[in-house]
Amino acid sequence: MASVVGIPCEIKEHEGRVAIAPAGVHVLCQGGQQVLIESGAGNGSGIANEEFSQAGAEIVEREEVFSRSDIIVKVKEPLEEEFDLLRAGQIVFTFFHFAASRQLLDAMLQREITCVAYETIRDRSGNLPILTPMSEVAGRMAVFEGSRHLESPSGGRGVLVSGVPGVEPAKIVILGGGVVGLNAAKIAAGTGAQVTIFDVSHERLRYLDDILPANVTTLYSNPLLVSKKVRQADLVIGAVLVAGAKAPVLVSREDVKMMKDASVLIDVAVDQGGCIETCRPTTHSDPTYVEEGVLHYCVANMPGAVARTSTFALTNVTLPYLEVLAREGIEGFLGFGDHVAAGLNVHAGAVYHDGVAGSFDLPLESVASLLGKNK
Ligand SMILES: NC(=O)c1ccc[n+]([C@@H]2O[C@H](COP(=O)([O-])OP(=O)(O)OC[C@H]3O[C@@H](n4cnc5c(N)ncnc54)[C@H](O)[C@@H]3O)[C@@H](O)[C@H]2O)c1
Repeated sequence: MASVVGIPCEIKEHEGRVAIAPAGVHVLCQGGQQVLIESGAGNGSGIANEEFSQAGAEIVEREEVFSRSDIIVKVKEPLEEEFDLLRAGQIVFTFFHFAASRQLLDAMLQREITCVAYETIRDRSGNLPILTPMSEVAGRMAVFEGSRHLESPSGGRGVLVSGVPGVEPAKIVILGGGVVGLNAAKIAAGTGAQVTIFDVSHERLRYLDDILPANVTTLYSNPLLVSKKVRQADLVIGAVLVAGAKAPVLVSREDVKMMKDASVLIDVAVDQGGCIETCRPTTHSDPTYVEEGVLHYCVANMPGAVARTSTFALTNVTLPYLEVLAREGIEGFLGFGDHVAAGLNVHAGAVYHDGVAGSFDLPLESVASLLGKNK
């Protein structure tokens, strides 16, 4: 089947990403789909209307994107001013994070929107493929942000992370060796810093030890050792995750008090509550604060600051799913297997994802019965 796929401008504050890159438009159009792009949607990522139209898209005004499209593709969840632009039966493919907003969930249920959430689609190994590139971006950025904030004009202790001949490099401690942690470690190691990375998975520690260079030490995470290393560090990067749960607090206020003055803490795990006791969410317009003499950077949407890179990284992973959605419709998409069907959160006024239903104690519908019902 042929669908109309619409991409509106992102209207959330400081969100420069757009849900598709020109290469994605090209692939969809080659596959017989029609693509509508809101005029200026690519501006924040440095992509001009002409690049989209050369790839085959039609450039239209905002209302037309919503009124003509079968599938709306976004980056962030629909905001209140977008709710009434959506219509029953329309598919919205984006990050929703429903557990964080009952208001958003109710709006989608009442309007009978079909919501396919980036964050709950799984691959065959059970990983979350659409979340991964954003963790790669945040992990790499964490070292750049940390290095910049260690400079005196930014309030840091005036340390060049690499050191120079005759002067020792910075000590960088990374808590959690998953996607964020590994990417942070790669960049940190490249600067020549003395890097320590903690994890609780022995298998993961072995892997990190195999692939990272000699200036990275892997350590098994226990409270005593974490506390000791954090207190000696110039820069600490928080990157732990226990799937589906609030992040465990690994760095106490007491540890922060004992750190060197004007050292830097970057808590990437802030979106799950943070793994540093003194962490509270900040924004790109006011990213840091000082507590116990230590500079804290806890921005919850770090990839938003590198919109162009993030737009291309996101399109690379969403496109294969979008192609199926556009070609097969929602039922064909769900038929691709449980891992893909895990993306369906809301459809026809009912909840289809156990995490979302569980968060608000709502009844759960099953994809199997939906497919059976409509046979
Ligand atoms: N702030 C942002 O802009 C941003 C962007 C992307 C991701 N994130 C967040 O960063 C966090 C990490 O994401 P990820 O993709 O790397 O997750 P991941 O699952 O790949 O890695 C998490 C790692 O933490 C380890 N871990 C769990 N408990 C631990 C403990 N007590 N001590 C040490 N390690 C422990 C796990 O074994 C795992 O290896 C998540 O909360 C994610 O949502 C934030």
